Amino acid sequence: MGKRFENKIAVVTGAGGTLCSEIALQLSLEGAKVFLVGRTMDKLEKTAEKILAAGGVPPTAVSCDVTDEKAVEDLAQLVHGAGGCDFLINGAGGNNQKAMPTITRFDPKELTGELPEGQKGLYDIDIAAFRSVLDINTMGTVIPLLAFSKQMIAKGSGSVVNFASMNSFCPLTRCFAYAMSKAAVCNLTQSFAAYFAPAGIRINAVAPGFMVNERSKNYLGTVEEGLTPRGQQVIGHTPMGRFGEARDLTGCVKWLLDDEASGFVTGITVPVDGGFLTLGGV
Ligand SMILES: NC(=O)c1ccc[n+]([C@@H]2O[C@H](COP(=O)([O-])OP(=O)(O)OC[C@H]3O[C@@H](n4cnc5c(N)ncnc54)[C@H](OP(=O)(O)O)[C@@H]3O)[C@@H](O)[C@H]2O)c1
Repeated sequence: MGKRFENKIAVVTGAGGTLCSEIALQLSLEGAKVFLVGRTMDKLEKTAEKILAAGGVPPTAVSCDVTDEKAVEDLAQLVHGAGGCDFLINGAGGNNQKAMPTITRFDPKELTGELPEGQKGLYDIDIAAFRSVLDINTMGTVIPLLAFSKQMIAKGSGSVVNFASMNSFCPLTRCFAYAMSKAAVCNLTQSFAAYFAPAGIRINAVAPGFMVNERSKNYLGTVEEGLTPRGQQVIGHTPMGRFGEARDLTGCVKWLLDDEASGFVTGITVPVDGGFLTLGGV
């Protein structure tokens, strides 16, 4: 019997990152030819090396900013030449410290410039950074979706997985731009799913809970070596009592991609969160 995704072509954006490097690896091991997409070639090449070392289908790494329509169009031409896209994983995204205050509630001192050294209120954030967070998480999903859905239409089927967040459902403190953009990801997943259903394209999202990566180790700590106060809040609110790993996501992504397994599923966002959303925090 062939592999589950043999002869499928998958475009994975954010493939140099923690979560989507693992997803790209797992899809390659299931027989898919993967296009690894991100801005930094070094990171993509590391993912490609991991895939080759594990015996996956040799991938193609392409440096591309997913918010740049022309760059995404060029990428789409390349993928078209290879046979066209079956699966799109819109993993590129993220937050930016410059778009975040350091304090969690309004303080009148932010109006008079009297916050303690190093503290930043909402009025002190960088609006260009705020805008760029909205852009990467929303237009960085929409632009690839528009480019690659054309190839899926030509094939008569396709599946897209977007990346939402716990912030999509209820914002965390200080994450203004990130939270509103990830809420938009759930919403656009629904509207695009409805629009493209007649073309045989299914569009869903995953909402990862708190997953381990180098950044999270700094601001949340680790269960084994000690948690920061914010890390304690997260773990206290996660019934499974641990952070997620990239591999916790892969089964869900594969399920959403596979027509045999989820062929009547479209427009949903699946939390993969150790139960974070089950509790109200009290
Ligand atoms: N980790 C978590 O706990 C968590 C939780 C909920 C949701 N998520 C979401 O899951 C996705 C993956 O997260 P992650 O933890 O794997 O993040 P990550 O390690 O930072 O990976 C994200 C990747 O996206 C790429 N990227 C950013 N902007 C881009 C752009 N304009 N064009 C192309 N590529 C771009 C980055 O590479 P370059 O900088 O080289 O372009 C980076 O490798 C993100 O959407 C994130 O918001 C993560």
